Amino acid sequence: MIENLVTSVKMIVKFGLLAVLAIYLSFSGTALSQSNELPVKSNRFELKSECLRELNTQINSELFASLVYMNMGAYFDNNKVARKGFAKFFADQSREEKDHAHKLMDYINKRGGIVNTLDVKMPVKSTWNSPKQALEDAIQLENDVNDYIHKIHGIAEHTCLDPHLMDFIESEYLEEQMTSINQLTRIHTILSQMQNGVGEYLLDRQLLKGDVKLDEL
Ligand SMILES: [Fe+2]
Ligand SMILES: [Fe+2]
Repeated sequence: MIENLVTSVKMIVKFGLLAVLAIYLSFSGTALSQSNELPVKSNRFELKSECLRELNTQINSELFASLVYMNMGAYFDNNKVARKGFAKFFADQSREEKDHAHKLMDYINKRGGIVNTLDVKMPVKSTWNSPKQALEDAIQLENDVNDYIHKIHGIAEHTCLDPHLMDFIESEYLEEQMTSINQLTRIHTILSQMQNGVGEYLLDRQLLKGDVKLDEL
């Protein structure tokens, strides 16, 4: 009787240990399969944390710029302002800035980073005295963005030692910023040369009809 009892206890302990071992192996196997660590000694593929942080900041800046232009577009379409051509022009700029943010998101994902857009500033201005005044704000905004893009390029070169990121910024952003600041400045110059509101109204009509080729101003 006692021998049977001892044998039963031994079997229970034995099966208990086996069950614990099986549970441990199944959990450790799951943990291994979920690990994303790349088994490489050198990793120049993934973005360095300093550059990832700067690119995420830039996404937020592009989204902020998009919201500023969206406000401008909405304001100039107001029926007490009635400058539909400028409204369209600024709405187009807003969409472009959103595209710039998406391009950065795609790049971060391609380089194994995590996109973080949780810190987008809200614009504080929603009215302007004239299209010319809005253009002055836009030129300042684009210069601020341009300064930051130059800063990221410097960090990519000296801190992250990342020629691929430098090339991406040069080809996708620096040229775009130069073109954009040049076009905004030219429209501002043309408006500054007009003596009265008729010229502004005619330019507005041309912008609405798509008669103004921005790269031919
Ligand atoms: Fe942009
Ligand atoms: Fe821009």
